[in-house]
Amino acid sequence: MTKESAVSIMPIWYGGDYNPEQWPEAVWAEDVQLMQRAGVNLATVGVFSWARLEPREGEFDFGWLDRVMDGLHAGGVRVDLATATASPPPWLTHRYPEVLPVTEDGVRLSPGSRQHYCPSSPIYRRLAARLVEALAERYGSHPALELWHINNEYGCHVSRCYCDVSAEAFRSWLKRRYGTVETLNEAWGTTFWSQQYSDFAEVYPPRAAPTFKNPTQKLDFRRFSSDELLECYRMEKSILRKATPEVPVTTNFMGFFKNVDYWTWSSEVDVVSDDSYPDPADPDSPAYAAMVRDLVRSLGGGRPWILMEQAPSAVNWRRRNAAKPAGMNRAYSYQCVSRGADGVMYFQWRQSVAGAEKFHSGMVPHSGTDTKTWREIEQLGAELGQLEAIVGARVPADVAIMFDWDSWWSIEQDATPGDIRYVEHAFAWYRELYRRTVTADFVRPGDDLSRYRAVIVPSLFMAGKEAITGLDEYARQGGRLLVTFQSAILDPHGHITFGGYLGGLAETLGVRIEEFAPPAGPDLERNGQADVPTLRIEGSLLPSSSASLWGEYVHAGSAEVIASFVGGELDGWPAITRNSRDAGRAWYAATLPGPEGMKALLDDVLTDAEVQGVLAEPVPNVEAVRRGSWTFLLNHSVQEVSVQAEGTTHVLQPRGVAVIALAGQQGAV
Ligand code: GAL
Ligand code: ZN
Repeated sequence: MTKESAVSIMPIWYGGDYNPEQWPEAVWAEDVQLMQRAGVNLATVGVFSWARLEPREGEFDFGWLDRVMDGLHAGGVRVDLATATASPPPWLTHRYPEVLPVTEDGVRLSPGSRQHYCPSSPIYRRLAARLVEALAERYGSHPALELWHINNEYGCHVSRCYCDVSAEAFRSWLKRRYGTVETLNEAWGTTFWSQQYSDFAEVYPPRAAPTFKNPTQKLDFRRFSSDELLECYRMEKSILRKATPEVPVTTNFMGFFKNVDYWTWSSEVDVVSDDSYPDPADPDSPAYAAMVRDLVRSLGGGRPWILMEQAPSAVNWRRRNAAKPAGMNRAYSYQCVSRGADGVMYFQWRQSVAGAEKFHSGMVPHSGTDTKTWREIEQLGAELGQLEAIVGARVPADVAIMFDWDSWWSIEQDATPGDIRYVEHAFAWYRELYRRTVTADFVRPGDDLSRYRAVIVPSLFMAGKEAITGLDEYARQGGRLLVTFQSAILDPHGHITFGGYLGGLAETLGVRIEEFAPPAGPDLERNGQADVPTLRIEGSLLPSSSASLWGEYVHAGSAEVIASFVGGELDGWPAITRNSRDAGRAWYAATLPGPEGMKALLDDVLTDAEVQGVLAEPVPNVEAVRRGSWTFLLNHSVQEVSVQAEGTTHVLQPRGVAVIALAGQQGAV
């Protein structure tokens, strides 16, 4: 790997988190031999080694890590060296208890697990910096060093700290953002409920309070908290850059992770990496995991990325932990490669015998190498070794889905009109694209959309002028734009969009919203969705479909109504509209169509946009993706299926995979 870009002489990275400190040294030599057998070429070392590397403040012990690094190097395994700052050692929090984070309710968390540090703590940052400097100095020129792995899953357990130190940092952040307390008052709408501030000193994090807190204060605290973690990351990165300008850095993301706005992070990593644990027991997992891969690829602007962690089999943190059935891990691994990954890694190499994760699977299981898990690990390593030519290849996508953390944070606040789960809503649209084998990128508001034939915008709840103008321009210049309910309702301060819901998008879409009317039942609290009335829609678009989640009173202006609500209070009101906008077209969905409606609507949009799936005839549970000059077919079902693709029939075994080399390329698998 080079910092600039991956080049095709590189292998596909294969390996996992390697925690040799959990094992006697006698095991280390066997580890390297087994890694060679499995085709492992990259190990992530030291993620949780702070206590071992710095057993007492300022006293470093690198001897053991020297031996680990040398051993891996001798065995031909490259190292993704972690900075070990994710779990402060006991001496640190014993001597400096103020480093421990504080929850919204004022509880100071204790050590004894991991990630127990306040991201704003100057003491944490100082001690972390010194460790990183020492590591960089010691290993910066070690021949095994391939990549720096900064910290681990920032924000996974503690993403917001409400302590006094964080409160002060929040105030500084607000001063930088707003300049004066008057501007802050304006942005936060503090005339409501007597909340005007006369000085920044009066401002606190949104700690536990009697009822609904100020929504913009909460939103800003989320923005601040994501930025604070990013500051921790940047601090480490700048040390590493200085010491080893040629060694790339990453930190492992967590897909659709709410607490950190990855759009603001992605330009800070040399290679995007991601951790992913699809539930083996959930039939929706393949489609959802595909959506995660597409986000991760998009975060890097389409550059190849690394799957940094997946479980070889079961995890240990669900209520009941399904083992991955035979073939599933292989299918997910190919899914990553097909959607742009140049690395397939695991948590973790050897299954622990002690500690909180001893029941989490490992590449080398408790029960050894005469196991299904190990055999699959070996098989996949051998197969990926044959696929090197794909390294660096791009994944083309004609469709984009707009995704925005501000909208996510705002729409899931309390005191909103409904209970929309932002990612689930995006997934409802993604799933239909996936079914059709249409690959999608994710884009952020304000991105250049011109290379996409169609853009889907699910509930862009919070939209600034730039985003709105960008979407309108896109449609005017010939794009096919589909916008759903609860878009452009709030401006970036969280105030109702000036001039009415939808702001400038009202003109793009040719509609005007009068009032929201999501279907609700008397027992929504007690019975979930049980008593919620089902909606129906029909029109020129389709004879009839169910619909759910949302309804509203919409007036069609210039837009043509292609489906209306049928029955109930909304009877006869527009449900789906289509508007011509200069060279392009813009659809508005005032509800979430059920499967038939979804199919009909995306038929309409994608036909108009001239978008085709990889398969002319999609096959249930078969995923198909093109990357570079290869087409991947993944059968997520337990039946043998035959699939027409790229001009031939391919028979796929249960959970089987085919990699079809298009003209001029070597085939594989
Ligand atoms: C990840 C984490 C790993 C391990 C894994 C278990 O979130 O980065 O250290 O805990 O989960 O699934
Ligand atoms: Zn704090």
